[in-house]
Amino acid sequence: MPFNVYVTRQIPEAGLAILREHCDRVDVSPQDCPLDRRVFLAQVKGRDGVVCQLTDLVDEEVLQAAGPQCRVFANFGVGFNNIDLEAATRHGALITNTPGILSDTTADLAWSLMLSVARRIVESDRYCRSGKWTGFSPMLFLGHDIHGATLGIVGAGRIGTAAGLRSTGFNMKLLYFDDRENDVLNKVGGKRVGLGTLLQESDFVSLHVPLLDSTYHMIGRDALAMMKPTAYLINTARGPVVDEQALVEALREKRIAGAGLDVYENEPELAPGLAELENVVCIPHLGSATHATRSRMSVMVAQNVVAALKGETPPNLVNTDVAKDT
Ligand code: GLV
Repeated sequence: MPFNVYVTRQIPEAGLAILREHCDRVDVSPQDCPLDRRVFLAQVKGRDGVVCQLTDLVDEEVLQAAGPQCRVFANFGVGFNNIDLEAATRHGALITNTPGILSDTTADLAWSLMLSVARRIVESDRYCRSGKWTGFSPMLFLGHDIHGATLGIVGAGRIGTAAGLRSTGFNMKLLYFDDRENDVLNKVGGKRVGLGTLLQESDFVSLHVPLLDSTYHMIGRDALAMMKPTAYLINTARGPVVDEQALVEALREKRIAGAGLDVYENEPELAPGLAELENVVCIPHLGSATHATRSRMSVMVAQNVVAALKGETPPNLVNTDVAKDT
């Protein structure tokens, strides 16, 4: 079909194959880095659809540059805080995301961070490699138990629920903070509590809220001060949910035990001082990064693009208002 699609970054072949099957022209950025803004503005011009990443800011300027024929911006990810939804709706552009298929993979990653930071895996790996190890020591790299501890899930949506459910295998007490009761978590003994109670009582606080005005710096100085000095903060949601400078201070002063971070306020930068701290595990935004899940995500973005270009409602439409208007 005479469709012209731009993909701002290399994605798994499964999705590209679907796009190529349905569109006459599919261009993929050859750059192995987030797309330069000027290139993005130039490349979207005249396209019928765009597959974009969380590193691509889709705003008024981009929507204008793309032109009125551009039917869809399909985000490769579940979060869409990089997109000005109101502007997209005004321009009649459909916005889609990739919910559900990455929840378990992201929950696995939150748990990888919990286990790594509490049992000091990365620190002790560095130690082993350094040649400093002199043999078994009863006092070497003592950490904290995960089993039997209290897990606090902030945001019990799809990913938060998956992360919470994993606590049953570790015989943990489960608390969650959310607007609504979560039957799935309640069924395994989870208890909905206020944020203050969750912060005060949890040994692991795991963040799973989207980035919204209301969640920006939700975990700041005051929230960190409510956490136990033996507690860990895990963030696989979005960096700006945490005031990263306040976190660095809390970690440096050992006001909390540690943190496991997949996301940062100003990716790819880390807040000054963060990289020097031993009680933090930092990984580069890998929540959904498994072969299987990234491949499924590529298929999902492609299906969203193809549906939109055929004039159908894409399966994962975010700005549902636009469909009503067009
Ligand atoms: C990744 O951060 C996503 O939103 O899918």
